[in-house]
Amino acid sequence: MITRRGIVLAAPAALAASKQKAFHYADVEARIARRDFKGITKDDLPTPALVVDKIAFDKNLRHMAEHCKATGIDIRAHCKIHKSVNIAKQQIALGSLGICCATIAESELMVAAGIRNVLHTCQPAGKNKISRAVDLGAKDPTFMVVADDPETVDLLNEAAAAAGIRLRTLVDIYAGLSRHGHAAGAPGLAVAQRIDKSKNLVFSGVMGYSGVASHTKGWENRRAQSRKDVGPVVETALLCKKSGLNAAIVTGGSTGTYNIDKEIGLTELQAGSYVFMDTAYNHIGAKAGVERYSDFGTSLHVLTTVISRNHPKQVTIDAGNKALLRPTDQVAGRPEVTVENQGAEFGILKWNDGNGFKLGEKAELITTNLDMTTNCYDRYYVCEGANLVDVWPVMGRAGALQR
Ligand SMILES: Cc1ncc(COP(=O)(O)O)c(C=O)c1O
Repeated sequence: MITRRGIVLAAPAALAASKQKAFHYADVEARIARRDFKGITKDDLPTPALVVDKIAFDKNLRHMAEHCKATGIDIRAHCKIHKSVNIAKQQIALGSLGICCATIAESELMVAAGIRNVLHTCQPAGKNKISRAVDLGAKDPTFMVVADDPETVDLLNEAAAAAGIRLRTLVDIYAGLSRHGHAAGAPGLAVAQRIDKSKNLVFSGVMGYSGVASHTKGWENRRAQSRKDVGPVVETALLCKKSGLNAAIVTGGSTGTYNIDKEIGLTELQAGSYVFMDTAYNHIGAKAGVERYSDFGTSLHVLTTVISRNHPKQVTIDAGNKALLRPTDQVAGRPEVTVENQGAEFGILKWNDGNGFKLGEKAELITTNLDMTTNCYDRYYVCEGANLVDVWPVMGRAGALQR
């Protein structure tokens, strides 16, 4: 039933039906704990929650794996997006050489889970991070770090010598993102040579991540930006090779440039977002010239519940600033609906035409920035249609061990 103000009321029969079955959330939790998901649907889940559309997710993983095989570029997928051992293992099963990590805690999680060939893509600086990086190298000789500063090279070498290990180390070269990377060319070569000369480090290659190219709009523009940003990284790797260094790995790349990076000269991709996708990526444009970047489909949504509806053409949902709601988020299947922040726990959905939302109805949001959103939650509820089929933990964030 729809009122004159566009508010949808549940029919009396529906209210009666909902009274018939007592709902105990504790039962859902108990069943999740014993991995008995049968009969649990999205309607049973606490919100806001992260839900993965398994079919779209599997398709994204397959598409990236097939692309890498067909074009002859390796992938070492980045876990900063998902922070999940379950997902990392699926990526490896489909050919990922190992996993890239952004934080030392992510690297610890992956190494502890038995994942080999982890590349820690951020230079460890300071006593705490350096000692933890060396501990990881001691646990697993396939573990790798990057360095973009000669001082880091010396400190890593010293710590590795004290631990009696040789730590695999790549030089991180500037690729257009001012947050990291040593200058390309001769200065970058000098850092690489310093690594190579360090007795307790093993020079293992060159990294250059271009976060600018990744989100440049229009495929041809992205390609031009990649040439400009990543070209010098590849040239530095060639300089290393010419000076006799073993620069077998030339790593970088992203979801946005996955079908460009090979021609630029990278040997492996660090792509991450392709598993889920977000609204920022959906608008960068595809190679085919179309505005929507349709190479990978949205497989992650924030499931929210409509909790109030007292004003025309708007409802309140239970996801707000704490859930990192953004006005650039979108409602899946409802492109006409706009999203507004209301406060810490709440958001507003607004529309001009079409149907409203029922009280208690679920709305699924496409997030603007995956990494930050996934960092707010403890689990992925993996669904096929409305049915829960699996639950994957997201790496914990609380406590010293997660920093
Ligand atoms: C160093 C590094 N490599 C790779 C990636 C993955 O990029 P994307 O999620 O765009 O595929 C990121 C993302 O921020 C990154 O920081």
